[in-house]
Amino acid sequence: MLFGVIIRTTPEEKLGDLSESPRHCNHPPLLSEEPHPSPPKVNKLSLNSHFKVILASYTDLIEEINGGFHMNIVEVKNLSKVYGKGETAVKALDDVSFSVKKGEFVCIIGPSGSGKSTLLHMLGGVDRPTSGKVLIDQTDIYNLNETQLAIFRRRQIGLIYQFYNLIPILTVEENMTLPMLLDEQKVDPSHLKRIVDILGLTNRLSHLPNQLSGGQQQRVSIGRALISNPAIILADEPTGNLDSKNSEEIMELLKMFNKTYNQTLIVITHDERIALQADRIISIEDGKVAKDEVTRP
Ligand SMILES: Nc1ncnc2c1ncn2[C@@H]1O[C@H](COP(=O)(O)OP(=O)(O)O)[C@@H](O)[C@H]1O
Ligand SMILES: [Mg+2]
Repeated sequence: MLFGVIIRTTPEEKLGDLSESPRHCNHPPLLSEEPHPSPPKVNKLSLNSHFKVILASYTDLIEEINGGFHMNIVEVKNLSKVYGKGETAVKALDDVSFSVKKGEFVCIIGPSGSGKSTLLHMLGGVDRPTSGKVLIDQTDIYNLNETQLAIFRRRQIGLIYQFYNLIPILTVEENMTLPMLLDEQKVDPSHLKRIVDILGLTNRLSHLPNQLSGGQQQRVSIGRALISNPAIILADEPTGNLDSKNSEEIMELLKMFNKTYNQTLIVITHDERIALQADRIISIEDGKVAKDEVTRP
């Protein structure tokens, strides 16, 4: 959009230019008219602004075409969540609003108990908010009924947790393909193979979770999150239980999927080194957005 930034004119400029435009559309004088005393002067400055007007309208068009790549995949509007009632009520989220662009990598940071996991659950359609809206790819997800929401979640959202949440009696392959089976969808063997290869699990497909290391179990949970090709990957402290080498590898994998497949990535982390890798850092405090910083444009 550099092009747009360079040539964009302000609305005032556009109006000003349009009102001036007849001056630089001079026709040659008609025969019956007095001859023009001197050849019409080209006002370079207005001509320049006139071109700017034309270019700006092209820019609008280009922006509209490019809109698909820059649209907000997530829109959170005045989201609040209260757990419990009366004296024991806890306001975990308090009027939170922000949006996330398609393909963005956002880290959510904040002290323990500040509402990070609650926010991620609301984004993932796991739990209903007390008030406010979550729009995912323009669908108001809490307007869906339970069945519709479950289907939407399985297809559009990949969830990754700190403690993997794998099913102990299912093999690696069964754990990974479970969301597709629940959705009565066929697993594309080449898609599965590609994910398994990337995650380095080719020789572990028939193992059970307890036969794997922590890092491998987290790879399985990433595979399970990605099998349905979701638009968004939500990860709640995905490296919180791993050593630094495994943490790094898991983050590299998540970033690779984010960059290569343009999957929006939202990660809760305590780890400053991870947060600094994100495009943007949202800090949550007492259930509110305390800071929202873009680390790289
Ligand atoms: N299911 C629940 N029932 C009651 N209170 C909850 C529940 N889940 C979270 N909370 C409370 O909501 C607040 C925010 O929790 P959480 O979102 O888990 O914070 P974080 O992930 O930032 O540590 C905390 O005070 C927590 O005790
Ligand atoms: Mg949490």
